[in-house]
Amino acid sequence: MRQTEGLEVKAFTEEQEALVVKSWNFMKKDAAQLGLNFFLKIFEIAPTAKKMFSFLKDSDVPLEQNTKLKPHARTVFVMTCETAVHLRKTGKVGVKESTLSKMGATHSRVGVVDEHFEVTRFALLETIKEAIPDMWSPEMKNAWGEAYDQLVKTMKESTPTST
Ligand code: HEM
Repeated sequence: MRQTEGLEVKAFTEEQEALVVKSWNFMKKDAAQLGLNFFLKIFEIAPTAKKMFSFLKDSDVPLEQNTKLKPHARTVFVMTCETAVHLRKTGKVGVKESTLSKMGATHSRVGVVDEHFEVTRFALLETIKEAIPDMWSPEMKNAWGEAYDQLVKTMKESTPTST
């Protein structure tokens, strides 16, 4: 356990890192389909979130055919996976401060709020569970969830305040 600002933070273990990396290595060949499933879940729960994506709000192209959607989905998967690796190695998220700050600013500008991050967390875990039912376990859920939480927390802390 490490102490961070009075809070006890559980160390990210080698087992947790291995679970995330192993499952992502297995899933990434289907990243395009996975990304689509992931977003369909997000928009099923939070349909109004579509309006925040510049390339969706005025688009008549069905979601399944919108090629711009998948890179964001992949980014969430890849950055969460990379976060798991860095957390285990260094206890930190491992994304450059300038990148986190830019991402924080973009999300804040387009109106992403805590509820969106929660819906996205749920959709991420559900997508993984459905993609790899045989590998899925409470430990796997916990490892992806923890890496995602740390990434989002750090991104939020790096968001420039709009004063
Ligand atoms: C943009 C990553 C969560 C909606 C971006 C960008 C990155 C990113 C790297 C491009 C940033 C830039 O160019 O400055 C992530 C990661 C997330 C996450 C790693 C979680 C771990 C979310 C959530 C939502 C969201 C929860 C809303 C449901 C958006 C939107 C954009 C964006 C609307 C702008 C897209 C556009 O119109 O070009 N995200 N994101 N993101 N993200 Fe996320």
